[in-house]
Amino acid sequence: MNRDDTTPTPAEERLVGASADREDQAVEAALRPKDLGEFIGQEKVREQLDLVLRAARARGATADHVLLSGAPGLGKTTLSMIIAAEMGAPIRITSGPAIQHAGDLASILSSLQEGEVLFLDEIHRMSRPAEEMLYMAMEDFRVDVIVGKGPGATAIPLELPPFTLVGATTRAGLLPPPLRDRFGFTAHMEFYSPHELERVVHRSASLLDVVIEPDGAAEIAGRSRGTPRIANRLLRRVRDYAQVKADGVITREIAAAALAVYEVDARGLDRLDRAVLQALLKLFGGGPVGLSTLAVAVGEERETVEEVAEPFLVREGLLARTPRGRVATPAAWAHLGLTPPQAPAAGNGQQDLFGA
Ligand SMILES: Nc1ncnc2c1ncn2[C@@H]1O[C@H](COP(=O)(O)OP(=O)(O)O)[C@@H](O)[C@H]1O
Ligand SMILES: [Mg+2]
Repeated sequence: MNRDDTTPTPAEERLVGASADREDQAVEAALRPKDLGEFIGQEKVREQLDLVLRAARARGATADHVLLSGAPGLGKTTLSMIIAAEMGAPIRITSGPAIQHAGDLASILSSLQEGEVLFLDEIHRMSRPAEEMLYMAMEDFRVDVIVGKGPGATAIPLELPPFTLVGATTRAGLLPPPLRDRFGFTAHMEFYSPHELERVVHRSASLLDVVIEPDGAAEIAGRSRGTPRIANRLLRRVRDYAQVKADGVITREIAAAALAVYEVDARGLDRLDRAVLQALLKLFGGGPVGLSTLAVAVGEERETVEEVAEPFLVREGLLARTPRGRVATPAAWAHLGLTPPQAPAAGNGQQDLFGA
């Protein structure tokens, strides 16, 4: 099994970052559900995928190509492995960024076994020529291998064994329609509910031999930003705390105290998230304020604020991006325990937003 790792940036290594850091990669293999029955949540995706795979098995055929889209940490890699396991097929793992030349893809494709699952992570980041080669491979199980250079180059058609491509992307919208259309089944993964995350935490705790009370699991789930990877990571940090500071048992109090040490608050915001909100509220009266100004105020790069902090704040309904700049919502004031200034006079932009 090949694994092409992309080096995480510092922003991704924060405790509530959704991308896998080195420690995650080491423990995730042990925590991954092995079949559809163990996979928690995503009911619709599971039901549909179950039908697709059962039908293929009944026909004795290779399963249709599957596209998995959704935010990092929601279970795309896990599902690709489950697809292979359910089909009793081997799996080859690679990623869009690892395939720079069409030749890289040709050599992977031509070495696949019949029925093998090819997992192509970050499929939206593949190069153009590789993408075009993939079209033909997906549709006709055939590639043209170019031999030679310049005017003398010839295309030699190469038959491939039937295989199942599982593509994963965080941005289904970035896929060119001809690529998207070649998948027989597309699954969009949603963020998990707190209840589902509690089940993830309980499951992982038992695999890690950690004793956890239901309230402790709920406390961790509530701070995990809808993301199983974050839930598993917070669980490990809370476990450390429980071992050092208590008897190892994770109660609600222990979970809350541990996550306070790591500066992950009750809603899953970390220090950066709160710094952005605090600047917006305390320095700019809740906005609107431009992104660059806000970034300077928190001493971060524009991109960090925009790409690392804002998506979750927007999703949580704490911050809004408006044409005039960033604006805090009433929920942001409430979350930080601050009182919004007096309702502004008519004509101020905040009025149209909140009807205050
Ligand atoms: N539905 C689920 N049930 C249980 N654990 C899950 C589920 N989805 C993801 N996980 C866990 O979360 C972690 C990240 O999942 P992964 O498949 O690597 O996410 P992605 O590939 O979408 O970034 C893994 O450790 C996995 O075990
Ligand atoms: Mg993955």
